[in-house]
Amino acid sequence: MIKRIIKTLLGKKNISRIRASLAAWKASGITYSANQDRTVSVLMSVHMLEKALVMSNEKYLNAVKYHNIIANISQLIESGASSEEFNIAGSAAIIKAALSTLSGHEDVKAELESLIRKYNIQERFRGGIERIPSKEIFSHNNFDFHGFISSRHSIRRFKDKIISREVIYDIIREAEYYPSACNRQPCKVYFTENPETIERIKKYIDGFVSPCVHDCLIVTCDRALLNPSERNDQELINGGIFLAYLVMSVHAHGLASCLFQFLQVNSRQNAIKREFGIPENEIIVAFLGIGEPEDEVICACAQRRPVEEIAICIDD
Ligand SMILES: Cc1cc2nc3c(=O)[nH]c(=O)nc-3n(C[C@H](O)[C@H](O)[C@H](O)COP(=O)(O)O)c2cc1C
Repeated sequence: MIKRIIKTLLGKKNISRIRASLAAWKASGITYSANQDRTVSVLMSVHMLEKALVMSNEKYLNAVKYHNIIANISQLIESGASSEEFNIAGSAAIIKAALSTLSGHEDVKAELESLIRKYNIQERFRGGIERIPSKEIFSHNNFDFHGFISSRHSIRRFKDKIISREVIYDIIREAEYYPSACNRQPCKVYFTENPETIERIKKYIDGFVSPCVHDCLIVTCDRALLNPSERNDQELINGGIFLAYLVMSVHAHGLASCLFQFLQVNSRQNAIKREFGIPENEIIVAFLGIGEPEDEVICACAQRRPVEEIAICIDD
């Protein structure tokens, strides 16, 4: 009875809003382990190193407390991180590149070498800087960008087919070129090859469209790779940029896609994460229905606004 009165007073819309805010509040209450914080610290420190190398900022490079970064990496490995993983081997490569530009610092150079030897850190990743002729950077621009970008449409009907793991890997490999804050690359993609699991994922997407979706990805952002002050917006900024790259990558692979991000996704974050084994520290950014399009597709015109409505010259 009381529940019904509250529902009538607040209205359905406001109740969903309150639920969404409560879910967001609960998510912000997640505690992060010392190792998760340590990983963020290492990744942000080595990113600063790369930036200092790009800007030839010797003063900064000389003042960095390399010992602390190396000690953090060592502690991460001691507490179970694999010396092969990107956070570790990638960071070691960057520190090595930074130190190789400096004279002196023999103590930390030796410390790094002994870390690399002790944990057999392989040189799997590139770190530091590379010099690329601008000509080379823009040597791929000779294609119909307008045609490519404007021919992508949200496609909401797909052939009854599941996209293979190899193709999904290929799509994600390309989407991985998205820019991310301090190159932490916090986004992940969950996929399945099991039609029954897809049916379970579909329960959470736009009911209007879900009957025609036959494959669906869940895109998340790992908040453990962000520091506390970033956890209110960076997940969605990085997540949104990743989504854009992912959608374009699906398009480039000749497949159709449609993003789904309903309010209910926010209010049901925890239930969805539990159901699909997504860790607590990740936030679901969106679902992406993907698949082979039917021979003819029906799309909304989705007319774009005139550019003058979007581009406002602040001098006018
Ligand atoms: C964050 C986001 C959420 C979206 N959610 C849905 C959705 O739940 N259902 C749907 O049919 N389309 C959804 N879309 C697709 C948009 O409706 C579509 O991108 C927009 O109308 C422009 O059309 P176009 O993608 O064909 O260019 C979503 C798009 C974005 C970026």
